[in-house]
Amino acid sequence: MWKGRFSQPTADLVQRYGESVSYDWRLYRQDIAGSTAHARAQLKAGLLTQAEFEAIANGLQEILADIEAGKFTWSQELEDVHMNIENELTNRIGAPGAKLHTARSRNDQVATDTRLYCRAEIDQILEKLRNLQRSLVMKAKQYADTMMPGYTHLQRAQPVTMGHHLLAYVEMLNRDAERLNDARKRLNVSPLGSGAIAGSTICLDRHSIAIELGFDSVTENSMDAIADRDYIMETLFAIAVIGAHLSRLSEDLILWCTAEFGFATLSDAHTTGSSLMPQKKNPDVAELTRGKTGRLYGNLNAVMVAVKGLPLTYNRDLQEDKEPLFDSIDTIKLALDVNAEMIAAMVVNEATALTAASDPMLLATDLADYLVRNGVPFRKAHELVGKAVAMSVSTGIPLNQLSDEQFKSISDAYKSDARDVFELTKAFSQRTNPGAPNSANTSRRIAYWEKILSK
Ligand code: ARG
Repeated sequence: MWKGRFSQPTADLVQRYGESVSYDWRLYRQDIAGSTAHARAQLKAGLLTQAEFEAIANGLQEILADIEAGKFTWSQELEDVHMNIENELTNRIGAPGAKLHTARSRNDQVATDTRLYCRAEIDQILEKLRNLQRSLVMKAKQYADTMMPGYTHLQRAQPVTMGHHLLAYVEMLNRDAERLNDARKRLNVSPLGSGAIAGSTICLDRHSIAIELGFDSVTENSMDAIADRDYIMETLFAIAVIGAHLSRLSEDLILWCTAEFGFATLSDAHTTGSSLMPQKKNPDVAELTRGKTGRLYGNLNAVMVAVKGLPLTYNRDLQEDKEPLFDSIDTIKLALDVNAEMIAAMVVNEATALTAASDPMLLATDLADYLVRNGVPFRKAHELVGKAVAMSVSTGIPLNQLSDEQFKSISDAYKSDARDVFELTKAFSQRTNPGAPNSANTSRRIAYWEKILSK
């Protein structure tokens, strides 16, 4: 493509070092759409005859069909997806193919392709996010009022329900969807026409190209357009946060599946055995999800570091944006699919969860609230309950079974109705504020999500 200036061919090692077609071939759809729109603008500008335009457009469609049928041979010597397709087009249709690159550079071409690619992939990831949300809402509905301990510091804290716990993830995934939509909005701007760095003296109609490609507008600065990789970083960040959420969900599942917790059982289809220990049933999917999240963070980091020292505008370093991008996209799509399936098949062991939730210590704070209602300042109430807890620990009598005399020996603020606070159902129903784990809130939120997710 640059033979005019050079008298030696590119060294073999340099070809191997610099080629990107082995992975950027997957931009072919976007590359062909971009080239077709570019050719149409050339036609409008009088740079191509109708016949030449048709030869280009049809030639590109035939190449597209061949690629999809697995009949296209990618060549490493032609470096990347852009040169492979353009070269093949010229092989097939001759002279008009050689006109296609007028007023265009691979710099604005790759920026166009990767924006279109991110946009298409974001749409797919959004679908998969919704699907996982549907699984979680379905499980939350099934176990809406199943009581279980909630944890802070991984120590039993206060009772919650499985419905409330699972819906927490639905909220997180909703923010993830918002983040992706936000990134999508910002990236949907056409850089085509920015050329290598400074546009072109041959002026094509950038707006009509943008419209044909579904972009909302055109970039306003050719240098920014060529150098910008924000959209890759934003996409990678949004994916990394999904990873964070899936990883936390994984950790919860891993704990719940232990003999020590025993709150949930994953299906055989979503667990693996041990080659040595016949009794084992391992939550590998959750562990892999937790592990792969490290890679998602690494991919974001790789691109951020690659960009940080680059002078404007294009530098070849930018080719390094693609493998992390593709890897994160592939990884998160599979992670969302497998987690949706695994959650849908998960069984919650309600009796075990209820037994754990029935630990009266979980309602020690409710007992302090009871004293507050009897006029004791909260700090004092905290201390008075702390004394009751200490008495329970030292005597071995459960907190909810201390006698009237024992409570009264700590403070007169304890009346004979003090032990009523240990009724679990009542404890939930008293938490009437929005966002709290009570049955009405949970079913309201489930109905809300069912409506949103059915769209
Ligand atoms: N394969 C290149 C990339 O991914 C395309 C742009 C190449 N531009 C250049 N001037 N070498 O970044």
